[in-house]
Amino acid sequence: MSGLIPESFIQSLLERVDIVDVVGQRVPLKPSGHEHKACCPFHDENTPSFYVSPQKQFYHCFGCGAHGTAIGFVMQYDGLEFPAAIEALAGMVGMEVPRAPGARPDDRQRREREALFGALDAAQNFFRARLGQSKSASEYLAKRGFDARTMDEFGIGLAPDAWAELTDHLLEQGFKAEALEQAGLSSRARNNNLIDRFRNRIMFPIHDRRGRVIAFGGRDLSDDGPKYLNSAESPVFHKGRELYRLFQARRGGLPERLLVVEGYMDAAALFQFGFEEAVATLGTAVSADHLELMFRATSVVVFCFDGDAAGRRAAWKGLEAALPAMRADREVRFLFLPEGEDPDSLVRGEGARGFAERLSKAVPLSGFLFDQLARPLDLSAPDGRARLVALAEPLLARLPAGPFADLMAEELKRRAGHSGSWKPVAVKRSPSISGSSERPLTPVQYAVAILVHYPELVEAAKEIALDVPGEIKGVRFLARLIEFCTEKPQITTAQVLEHWRDAPEGRFLSGLATRDLAGGIEQLRPALVEALERIHAQLIRSRIGQLQHCQSAGGLGEEQAAELRHWLSKRTTGEAGSNEKPK
Ligand code: UTP
Ligand code: MN
Repeated sequence: MSGLIPESFIQSLLERVDIVDVVGQRVPLKPSGHEHKACCPFHDENTPSFYVSPQKQFYHCFGCGAHGTAIGFVMQYDGLEFPAAIEALAGMVGMEVPRAPGARPDDRQRREREALFGALDAAQNFFRARLGQSKSASEYLAKRGFDARTMDEFGIGLAPDAWAELTDHLLEQGFKAEALEQAGLSSRARNNNLIDRFRNRIMFPIHDRRGRVIAFGGRDLSDDGPKYLNSAESPVFHKGRELYRLFQARRGGLPERLLVVEGYMDAAALFQFGFEEAVATLGTAVSADHLELMFRATSVVVFCFDGDAAGRRAAWKGLEAALPAMRADREVRFLFLPEGEDPDSLVRGEGARGFAERLSKAVPLSGFLFDQLARPLDLSAPDGRARLVALAEPLLARLPAGPFADLMAEELKRRAGHSGSWKPVAVKRSPSISGSSERPLTPVQYAVAILVHYPELVEAAKEIALDVPGEIKGVRFLARLIEFCTEKPQITTAQVLEHWRDAPEGRFLSGLATRDLAGGIEQLRPALVEALERIHAQLIRSRIGQLQHCQSAGGLGEEQAAELRHWLSKRTTGEAGSNEKPK
């Protein structure tokens, strides 16, 4: 059900992992009754409505509707795909993730990716070793002021000035030509020979969010090629979605802020001067995806761009990408460097203190936005002020509703005398948690909801048979749920949800898991029995209906007639509709 990772492993992982630890490592939790609470990390709030239940192994935010298991939390908070989240949690409790055997279609794809990772890793070792052997490259880096600690930390290497040294080396090690091409390490020359993509370049490995090498950036040592060459897009490298150094910046705890710079050298120089939290986009404009990735790791993002026209353009792109992500607990600032400087040259020139000083004076997003728009305008006249409103409106309208949007409206009013007529983007709330507008549950839904909340109540369900051949929506699923919970006496809400994660019922189940059922386990035990009794009666009525329909359509066989008499004698009367307890 979960791709290549066996279901049984996911179940035992959830037995070992405690969601309170998982969430607690990332969000400060406070005990609150049987649960723990915090301000929700997924939306903007000042009073906590985010709850973590150790008993259910489940989290739920009553404010924005975010909910899920430890796996879901790691996926959402750390920005990981399902298998990576499993890996992360398994690592936390010292378990090894097994892979289901057999040649499933995904299996081949996975082997291919692994071959690419293998080749990239081998290439990284090769570049590192080559740097050690090259006096001139070491001299170049020394001249640029990099020390050994920084070069180790960044994994800086050298692609030699030769046609196919890396390619030949990797082929010798058994890597396939196809994998080398796919990984972006080798390419075909005009004569169809396989040659190195990177030649005579200082090499920077690029890591994914799990710390694996997925690509390289290489700085030219001669003066003939382009200054920087990045790996081409590959099955493991998607430029627009990666941030150079994000893995390292998150390692060992989330940073208080991230600095966004343009180049590899900038990140390395800042690191050497004690600013370890610099990340870089890989020669592409900052995207909204980048901002989301960064804000999962920190709440303050400082763009450090050149003060020239290109730097301002890049910063404006960053501003536009940031607007939809601007919740009140997030901050974006802009540091504009003097013309002709980049963070590398500046921190070397002014030292760590000088750079820190500049950082502390970085311009907040609000200031950059209004100042930039007002630049060509004359705000002393209403004409200019009206234009400021007109220019600001479409940008401000991309902000999510909340305190920041409100304050920006005030700021526009302060600067222009008018706050415009824009509306911020309504923040989505999950319909399943909107309290009184919730539709009442059918008996089947109610029984499922109770079992998802308290799987241990399944023992109360045993007495009531659901194997009447009638038809009610969802009853087969309920029967499967009962069977599943019966087989696993200690099972938690989280384990139930993960079992059906990818099934059509998964969404339905997790919607019910977040539903606020009136009453605790003691009230819900009789409520479950009652719901099941109703379902039982409904099934009988449905079966009677089926048989009577056959009867009028053409008569019943002897067996069926007996069955009809049987159910008619069992029929109970009086029940109808929903049996959810009023709140
Ligand atoms: P810069 O031209 O500012 O170079 O490019 P730099 O980082 O300051 O490098 P040095 O100090 O001259 O050695 C900034 C970033 O833009 C991308 C690279 O990611 C680079 O680090 N870039 C630049 C390219 O992708 N290709 C290029 O040809 C140039
Ligand atoms: Mn530079």
